[in-house]
Amino acid sequence: MTRKLFVTTALPYANGPFHIGHIMEYIQADIWVRFQRMQQDREVHFVGADDAHGAPIMIAAEKAGLTPQQFVANIAAGRQQYLDGFHISFDNWHSTDGQENHELSQTIYRNLKAAGFITTKTIEQFFDPVKNMFLPDRYIKGACPKCSAADQYGDSCEACGAVYAPTELKNPYSTLTGAAPVMKTSEHFFFKLSDPQCVAFLKDWALGDVDGVPRLQPEVANKAREWLGDESEGLGDWDISRDAPYFGIEIPDEPGKYFYVWLDAPVGYLASLKNYFGKTSRDYDAFMADPETEQYHFIGKDITYFHTLFWPAMLKFSGMRVPNNVFVHGFITVSGEKMSKSRGTGISPLRYLDIGMNPEWLRYYIAAKLNSHVEDVDFNPEDFVARVNADLIGKYVNIASRSAGFIAKRFGGKITARLAPENAGFLETLRASADEIAKDYETREYGRALRAIMHQADIINAYVDQHKPWVLAKDPAAEPALHEVCSTLLEAFRVLTIYLKPVLPALAAQVEALMNLPPMNWADIVQPLPDGHVVNAYSHLMQRVEPKMLDALFDAPAAEPAAATTPVASEIEYIAPTITIDDFSKIDLRIAKIVNAELVEGSDRLLRLTLDIGESSTRNVFAGIKSAYKPEDLIGKLTVMVANLAPRKMKFGVSEGMVLAASAKDEKAKPGIYILNPWPGAEPGMRIR
Ligand code: 2FM
Ligand code: ZN
Repeated sequence: MTRKLFVTTALPYANGPFHIGHIMEYIQADIWVRFQRMQQDREVHFVGADDAHGAPIMIAAEKAGLTPQQFVANIAAGRQQYLDGFHISFDNWHSTDGQENHELSQTIYRNLKAAGFITTKTIEQFFDPVKNMFLPDRYIKGACPKCSAADQYGDSCEACGAVYAPTELKNPYSTLTGAAPVMKTSEHFFFKLSDPQCVAFLKDWALGDVDGVPRLQPEVANKAREWLGDESEGLGDWDISRDAPYFGIEIPDEPGKYFYVWLDAPVGYLASLKNYFGKTSRDYDAFMADPETEQYHFIGKDITYFHTLFWPAMLKFSGMRVPNNVFVHGFITVSGEKMSKSRGTGISPLRYLDIGMNPEWLRYYIAAKLNSHVEDVDFNPEDFVARVNADLIGKYVNIASRSAGFIAKRFGGKITARLAPENAGFLETLRASADEIAKDYETREYGRALRAIMHQADIINAYVDQHKPWVLAKDPAAEPALHEVCSTLLEAFRVLTIYLKPVLPALAAQVEALMNLPPMNWADIVQPLPDGHVVNAYSHLMQRVEPKMLDALFDAPAAEPAAATTPVASEIEYIAPTITIDDFSKIDLRIAKIVNAELVEGSDRLLRLTLDIGESSTRNVFAGIKSAYKPEDLIGKLTVMVANLAPRKMKFGVSEGMVLAASAKDEKAKPGIYILNPWPGAEPGMRIR
């Protein structure tokens, strides 16, 4: 019977390029998927999508001067080069802002509501009165309630380590506008996770067995036990709504209310599959209704809660199929250093490719370090060079380079399958590991699979050393022995190539071309090359890693732009509190002609300007622009002045107004003063409104 597999990776936020953590997850899932595709009895669908919604993306888009849709489309356009570059074989890549996701999310919500799993509560939350929006906690800062350190986030203090609620901050401010937030109430929608049916279902799903084996990885099950077990506080209801303005999916029949991004994000898995099935004329509903379908999600450990509690419960109580499992991995560290979730690590995936590093080195290295547990994987440059060169070049590729040349040069490319029992038996022992290696791939024990495969490579290399083809080649009488030894080696190499194919798909394709073979599957392990099969002349299969490449990888600046996730607050001055149009019209701004400009004796900052604004007499105005303009360059130019500012007595005389000029928030860091200059046609005395 055919196994039907639906496989996903976590959907990345569409606010930045992929970092090495994404690539690691995709490599892990891709190896599993490719292994499954090599089995005769599997139908595999592997999909991804951008996670498009939420406040950070809405704000980043605004900052970039784009609609959220345009912003997300720009990010999406950059995805393929990474996926192609690292041989990640998604069948489809979609977006959670796609039509399918809107429909599916709304259907799930309607079903949950009909089943009595949606409730509402009025909650009080910080609100930014300038931006007119509720503020997620991450956009509120203030002084620590314990030690008064300034500019601390709403959850904990970086200075003294105190932990508190955002409402406890002293002098809180919105990092979006600088305004003091106010408390405001709003009705929110909640998914009733506290319902006893939910807890009962989740205990069964997360803590239960499948065919006598615990469903979840032991570390993940332990977490689930903390959250669900009798010792736990139980589950609280989950707030699934956000108020406009929000980039998301509207809640049906609730104007101005949107689903919180984490409600519709995992539904994006289904949406991408549905989109893909639509494009390929497959029946989505039938596939999802089929009890034989298996659904798996590869995710990082930081989003376990969402995937082992919220997601299965949402599906269950909306009457949909629940996932068969969630495969959780750890983080990638670089030389032991943790990376930042938004900025990644010192390894830029695009730079890796740009400097000509082989993507399959990384696939191999990561695979060699992965197992079925939730452990972090460390990328260590020296270890990387040593491991790849020793294993892939020293052990594996060398087998072909030491045998294929003789077959081409001495035997017209023809191999012999008429082998002495010793050689046939040798090949049988290699094939005998197929099931064990398959089991390792299936259970995501890639490190163990690769150790078993490299152990075989060691055995094959020992065979080479024992039979010494280069010695046989010098003895005409040993011609048949040379033929048999090299044919045995090529067949051994073919078997190893199949074992490695989920990890090294491009190299396997090169080997298939070299050997004149169609794409090989797992079943081909036991289908030896037939007698007289002709292989092509050996061509080089893989370069060694040069240590200097690693220097280039780490020294150079990252090729990608930094992720556009942080709000603008640090770069520009806060926008001042809102005023009304009446407030604004109190300021009388006029076009002024600078009829004279001169230095002010005794002042190193001021210029004295004589301004004509069409009145019967000119105005005398002192302006702090000496550092930026020479008096003679200003005479005759038009600018803008505040004409109704109360006259001010200054050390050097009375100033009868003020000219306007722009400068950076921090003039020391970014010097420069720029006075305004109207477009041609403006005349002295015209009002600016
Ligand atoms: O943590 C993240 O990057 C989320 N965008 C993952 C979402 S996974 C799924 F729910 F879509
Ligand atoms: Zn503090």
